[in-house]
Amino acid sequence: MCGIIGYLGFRPVGKILHSGLKALEYRGYDSAGVAVIEGGAAVRIVKDTGKVDEINSSLKFDSLEGHAGIAHTRWATHGGVTQPNAHPHVSCGGAVAVVHNGIIENYKELREDLRSKGHAFASQTDSEVIPHLIEEGLKAGLPFDKAVLGACARLKGSFAFLALSSANPSELMAARNESPLIVGVGDNEFFVASDCIPFLDYTKKAVFLNDGEAVWLKAEGGFEMKFFDFKSGRQIMKEISEIKWSASQAQKGEFEHFMLKEIMEEPFVFKQSAFQDELVLKDFAKGVLDAKDAFVVASGTSFHASLVGRAWFKKLAAKDLKVVLASEFALDSESLSKDSLVIAVSQSGETADVLDCIRAAKAAGARIFSIVNVVGSTVDRLSEKTLYLNCGPEVGVAATKSFLNQLGVFCLLAFAAKGEKVDFAELGVFIEQGLEWNREKLKELAKEFKFRDNVYFLGRGASYPIALEGALKLKEISYIHAEGMPAGELKHGTLALIEKGTPVVLLNPPDSSFTHALNNGIEAKARGAKIIGVGVENNENYDLWLQLPKIENPLFYPIIETIPLQLLAYYSAVERGRDPDKPRNLAKSVTVR
Ligand code: F6R
Repeated sequence: MCGIIGYLGFRPVGKILHSGLKALEYRGYDSAGVAVIEGGAAVRIVKDTGKVDEINSSLKFDSLEGHAGIAHTRWATHGGVTQPNAHPHVSCGGAVAVVHNGIIENYKELREDLRSKGHAFASQTDSEVIPHLIEEGLKAGLPFDKAVLGACARLKGSFAFLALSSANPSELMAARNESPLIVGVGDNEFFVASDCIPFLDYTKKAVFLNDGEAVWLKAEGGFEMKFFDFKSGRQIMKEISEIKWSASQAQKGEFEHFMLKEIMEEPFVFKQSAFQDELVLKDFAKGVLDAKDAFVVASGTSFHASLVGRAWFKKLAAKDLKVVLASEFALDSESLSKDSLVIAVSQSGETADVLDCIRAAKAAGARIFSIVNVVGSTVDRLSEKTLYLNCGPEVGVAATKSFLNQLGVFCLLAFAAKGEKVDFAELGVFIEQGLEWNREKLKELAKEFKFRDNVYFLGRGASYPIALEGALKLKEISYIHAEGMPAGELKHGTLALIEKGTPVVLLNPPDSSFTHALNNGIEAKARGAKIIGVGVENNENYDLWLQLPKIENPLFYPIIETIPLQLLAYYSAVERGRDPDKPRNLAKSVTVR
């Protein structure tokens, strides 16, 4: 996790880095810091614990001068949340500064070796070895770029890092291995960041670094960039791509939180999940049908969408998908062969657990397809075929619109596998109704949830993954314990936890699951539960009814049911005074294992 950004150009660096940190804050928000080359030749570090705004109010990132700098917003892995552990980290003399995202697995050996050479460490982080390794190279007389490439060659693990040196005030070096890094190429200016959002206002031209690659950027005597394979040290050529997202898509606009904005966009954005290349969609569906074993690997919310995808594929195309949690895939990976297909599903396209699955699948000779949001992400680039979510940048840590669009893409695919097309025009209207009809009730319910410790979400069939998703959303942003489960399983144990007033959200669409699911709700009600029924008609057994629009094809209910659950999580978090965009202990892009 963690977000990093570097800038080399003509604009005041403090302002650029500050706004870049704000844009990257969704990746981590334990602490933040900045290093700039000040007065042309000295590295100045400003860093502390807390969120970017809190730190900025005392340390004033904006006021930092100069035209070269690097910055970091942290999600702690090695070393607690303390000021010394915040990035940037520096070499002994303070001449080299580094910000790092990832985990250096051999940092203990490197520390020992560097200590024996007289280096002293100021933090408990794995990252701090990097500036010291670069310093060693400089001491040995290497130029800055070679010293950085030499340091890369000694690192094991995942990293994306940026380095500055006071002896080379108009240069910036960056390298990547298993953590994302993108170079933004402007007119007489460069950006390097964990994603493109911080530089969309300035340039849409970007170069995506691959694992094992580094870039050297120089501003003096003309702007220049050179790319290297850091294992061989050889210079390589890279293509410049055009980014399609706009800066305004990644702004909150009139909304108080990104999460609410991203939910309210859904009626419109969902329809974009249907904007697919016909040929890729057909080939993708054919690849799924032809595969001897079709695995789907995903984490968290993307896993829940994949479970719905499995239900649709079974129903529409009689094809069994093996949906596996990416972090557990190692247990299944021995059944991989060259006849297998692995479909990676990921909003960010950077989740480390998902990338591990892809690497295992490649090693076994399996085909790799993916469903991702971020074009050019690592998952995208490692895949033979990709279907994009087309939901625009998702900034709120809790996945909302990307979940809906994952459902959209799975729905298109399952229909394509059946040889049919599906039209989403009407669904957009139903999503809008789902948002409008229940808002006031949900705000009231959130006031009640404020005082609740446990909530249960029940669903059957394709509504079961939606129950899992409703519970995950509530947990992660409101910190209320919640459990999603197949409605029929309640009586096999969990019913013991139901007491007077326990809220039970019952997904009760008018499909073949209706009566059984309702009976499961009634069993809970008999033990004192408050039943919040989510369905198209009110029922005497519901204590509160969340109304769904009636739709012709019951297959689509999982899409519509999701809407009130996302809003419920959002209003509950707000009611409890939590920041839904930045839940504690979490970050949006999970690039650690
Ligand atoms: C929950 C959430 C996470 C992600 C998970 C996978 O709201 O956002 O559970 O779904 O970390 O992330 P991606 O889809 O980027 O691979």
